[in-house]
Amino acid sequence: MSHAEDHEGTRRDFLYYATAGAGAVTAGAAVWPLVNQMNPSADVKALSSILVDISGVEVGTQISVMFLGKPVFIRRRTQEEIDEARTVELSELIDPLSENPNKPGTDAADQNRTLDDAGEWLVMMGVCTHLGCVPLGDGAGEYNGWFCPCHGSHYDTSGRIRKGPAPQNLHVPVAEFVDANTIKLG
Ligand code: FES
Repeated sequence: MSHAEDHEGTRRDFLYYATAGAGAVTAGAAVWPLVNQMNPSADVKALSSILVDISGVEVGTQISVMFLGKPVFIRRRTQEEIDEARTVELSELIDPLSENPNKPGTDAADQNRTLDDAGEWLVMMGVCTHLGCVPLGDGAGEYNGWFCPCHGSHYDTSGRIRKGPAPQNLHVPVAEFVDANTIKLG
């Protein structure tokens, strides 16, 4: 099974990384036969956790992987992007919450949205919080982060909504580092 998916754009950030294949599906696989008997829609749950190899992601680039049927952006930010995100005052933000289940109840400070303390790794659902389009990345929009062309929502280098109709920051999925080169989603 491949998690690769074509996108209408040919931007580098939409070259989906296809390493999260069958061999990478981990937790849950062992109990899967039992779950399968109990739940007709459990095929979805079989992918409730995937591993993503990030060893090939260079600074200043991002990959997109499909997870639970939706794109997830994994960006390795430059120091410039990190600095830009971390100098923003919370009072400037439309959505004051981190929208990060890994750090529940926290505010939208950049430190509360990144996967590592240094802020190099930003993992987010690639789903605009307005009506669900897939935003463009790689420094797009007026805030050098992501831009949703559907109705003009601008997200900053932390994926926080800064302008346009989207009501919330791009959501962070449940994620963690398994090792230096591997991120587990779910
Ligand atoms: S869906 Fe993104 S701005 Fe409307």
